[in-house]
Amino acid sequence: MRRVGIIGVSGKLGQYMAREALDRGYEVVGVCREQSTGKLGDLAEAISVLPGDTNDRRLIREAVASCDGVLTVLVPWGTRHYASGTAQAVLDYARADARLIFSCGWHVPGHEKDHYPRTTLLAQSAMTKLMRAIRVMDIDDQVEAARLIYASDTRWTVVRGSTLEEGESQGLPVWADYVGHPKLASDRTRRVDYARFMVEALTDDDLVRKTPAIVGRLTQSALVHEKSA
Ligand SMILES: NC(=O)c1ccc[n+]([C@@H]2O[C@H](COP(=O)([O-])OP(=O)(O)OC[C@H]3O[C@@H](n4cnc5c(N)ncnc54)[C@H](OP(=O)(O)O)[C@@H]3O)[C@@H](O)[C@H]2O)c1
Repeated sequence: MRRVGIIGVSGKLGQYMAREALDRGYEVVGVCREQSTGKLGDLAEAISVLPGDTNDRRLIREAVASCDGVLTVLVPWGTRHYASGTAQAVLDYARADARLIFSCGWHVPGHEKDHYPRTTLLAQSAMTKLMRAIRVMDIDDQVEAARLIYASDTRWTVVRGSTLEEGESQGLPVWADYVGHPKLASDRTRRVDYARFMVEALTDDDLVRKTPAIVGRLTQSALVHEKSA
């Protein structure tokens, strides 16, 4: 791994991933919305920045052309297929042998054994409808993005995050194949550790074409599971 693209580099997760990638000695090229370049601070000096929307196909093509790995923050903002447009552009233009790592939440299905409590499904459905009605975001488009990724023959990993929080690193998160696994019950991961998992996945071939659902290493459910394993 020498050169890494980060699509959505100006957000919180994007910035943590950029710092983690730089710490590992990778060159970083980042895409972020033009109005967000100011959020990068000193990072802007350390990485190459391509300003523009993350679903701008021309820009993504330029960003990922020479990358060995691409870290993509999938976000369902707006109602114009932002997440699926971003995913499709990365899938279309990344090098055939590149490692492609995408972020999303547990709400995105990814395994036949995924299990969601009925209350969660009802709340999610209501939120999806409300957000679409007020045209803020289209959560179904993030699900569509994942579907496009699963159907591709690229070397992808979709990392499904629990609820995130800020704070000091607790180490690399633990993961399960499916949502609903008891080890995930605490539903908390430090954002800095989510970023670490994403960057680590670039060089972990065991995660190719997998959809790990992650949780913080020091959460109660992870610790209980580790003890009983
Ligand atoms: N938040 C959680 O608890 C949680 C839980 C599970 C999984 N995740 C996943 O983690 C990843 C990062 O999410 P995050 O919540 O932690 O936020 P984040 O890292 O701050 O990222 C938010 C991203 O959305 C972009 N964005 C914000 N408003 C936008 C708009 N109107 N149009 C286009 N782009 C816009 C931001 O770009 P700018 O810098 O240009 O604003 C940034 O790249 C996502 O894939 C999310 O699904 C989050």
